[in-house]
Amino acid sequence: MSQSARGKFIAFEGGEGTGKSTQTLLLANALRELGKRVEITREPGGTPGAEAIRQLLLHPPGEGWQAEAEALLFAAARSDHVAQLINPALENGAWVVSDRFVDSSRAYQGGAGGLGDDAIIALHQFGTHGMRPDCTVLLEVDEARLAQRLNERDGDTSDAIGGRSADYHRKVAQSFRALAEADPEGFVVIDGIGTPEEVHARVMAALAPLLDERT
Ligand code: TYD
Repeated sequence: MSQSARGKFIAFEGGEGTGKSTQTLLLANALRELGKRVEITREPGGTPGAEAIRQLLLHPPGEGWQAEAEALLFAAARSDHVAQLINPALENGAWVVSDRFVDSSRAYQGGAGGLGDDAIIALHQFGTHGMRPDCTVLLEVDEARLAQRLNERDGDTSDAIGGRSADYHRKVAQSFRALAEADPEGFVVIDGIGTPEEVHARVMAALAPLLDERT
């Protein structure tokens, strides 16, 4: 047994209400049943420092952040998350399942926020040496159904980013789709409509090649 085999890193991506948190938990449980050690985490957050930055981002003091500052804060949180949690866990042989990663910054700040992909990639290169998941799972749900789910989930309590306009969130969804289309090796796109178990079965089927690799 090679105790030092590096684990795999899987990130869930998608807009608000697409079911990332539920699918993150279901995947982590399934991986554990397959005998893997699993670290479950989220962004922004995952480490004490990144969780503190999360508070600043989702509940900004004063008037809120301008676009560049917001992108820098996400990148700073991610740099800490990769250095202090994700990389050590992977090196230790654990699998890491994260609710969001850098493609959220590309879709929200880069796409919908207008900063462009090159700026986000440059920050990510500086912060993490450009770390990519082994697979990014994009969950897609149509706009009408999302509006219904979010109304049930958040009511009028959404945070500084979740509460942005329908147009902003439409651009987020379009950006995610474009990122996935540009990198078919790195992404799987999953239909997020159905029961949690139905969606989970699609995720497991899509990840089968990764699961079959000996680690
Ligand atoms: P969270 O409550 O975790 O969102 P959700 O459960 O809806 O996925 O809050 C994270 C928010 O931060 C969400 O609105 C997406 C946003 N976000 C970015 O804008 N850029 C990023 O890089 C990340 C990781 C999240």
